[in-house]
Amino acid sequence: MNEYKIAVIRGDGIGKEVVGEGLKALEAVGSREKIAWGFTEFPWGSDYYLEHGEMLPEDGVDRLAGFDAIFLGAVGHPEIQDHVTLNGLLLPIRRTFDQYVCERPSTLYPGVESPLAGKKAGDIDLVVVRENTEGEYANVGGFQYEGFPEEVAVQTAVFTRRGTERIIAYAFELAKERGKAGRVTSITKSNALGYGMALWDRTFEAVSERYPEIETDSMLIDRACMEMIRAPEQFDVLVASNLFGDIITDVSAMVTGSMGLAQSANLSPERVGPSMFEPTHGTAPDIAGKGLANPMAQILTGAMMLRHLGEGAAADRLEQATLQVLAQGEILTADLGGSSSTSSVGDAIVSAVLSG
Ligand code: NAD
Ligand code: IPM
Ligand code: MN
Repeated sequence: MNEYKIAVIRGDGIGKEVVGEGLKALEAVGSREKIAWGFTEFPWGSDYYLEHGEMLPEDGVDRLAGFDAIFLGAVGHPEIQDHVTLNGLLLPIRRTFDQYVCERPSTLYPGVESPLAGKKAGDIDLVVVRENTEGEYANVGGFQYEGFPEEVAVQTAVFTRRGTERIIAYAFELAKERGKAGRVTSITKSNALGYGMALWDRTFEAVSERYPEIETDSMLIDRACMEMIRAPEQFDVLVASNLFGDIITDVSAMVTGSMGLAQSANLSPERVGPSMFEPTHGTAPDIAGKGLANPMAQILTGAMMLRHLGEGAAADRLEQATLQVLAQGEILTADLGGSSSTSSVGDAIVSAVLSG
């Protein structure tokens, strides 16, 4: 029996709903694959902020250090400024544990209709590797003359050679591992951003020389958004800076059917600390609290966590169970054209896990 200690942060909005389904699915897989889960819930997020004036206690991030992984829903509240909630919780966790890889696969699964005409299951099968600790999210800057008419805000993007090199190398290694076409597309904007993105381009060229067997391409972010809609089947692995990776993964989620299927992992490859598993989507205030959210993104994110923990068979079982429910097409939430609730979809996946 393998045992894992998992820190659970439901967060806000639909995070609270979908994490419950994720935990149910993980318990079911655990019972089939001899995994004992030690889940510890932390009630951190916007409700905690409204009560305590901070998103988590001062030693909160340190308390996560001893866990094998963090399983998180989403954070963000319509009445609190997003930079307060996100800079208070999500982004410090990513940075403290050096979760420099944000890995976001997008696959068009059987039974799912793409909003793009004529795309069949499997036509789209890509992974975005997003730099997750620096770049445009470095949070370096400040205000001058704050509140006065002559106010100035400075927000500096930080690109380091080390940070750029390691994320690009990760993307090439992943392309090798995936064993598909073997193509890495670098997302850039060096036509306008002549320092940070110039270093990015140079580093991409240098790293690509170490992988002669892998095809490469360099694409401006605006063009990449267009290509993601015109011909997403051309992509295998994409590597992008923090902001560009954030933007393009909402597009890749939608062309493969829904935000409600978009799995994601924040990985600390050198295991400086635990990795964090949270789907791509946010707290969806427009549907929160109504049982309408699709829990599949959270559940597939759980499968990514299993794989990271070395539990490949359990990850496959959970993924297959989710794909079975999708392919059957009977118990689906509204984002996929169904009328089932969040918990009915979770229950259907649990049954598929237990009977598969
Ligand atoms: P969002 O991803 O929350 O929602 C975008 C759209 O997709 C909405 O129409 C929503 O209903 C739909 N959607 C998202 N997830 C869904 C699911 N599982 N099932 C069905 N439909 C789903 O993006 P937003 O509206 O821009 O952001 C809302 C809040 O979430 C903001 O505060 C934002 O900062 C925060 N946010 C947090 C995270 C995170 O914690 N990882 C990620 C993105 C956004
Ligand atoms: C994501 C989210 C976050 C990000 C926000 C909430 C800070 O949009 O994980 O995609 O931009 O990283
Ligand atoms: Mn995002």
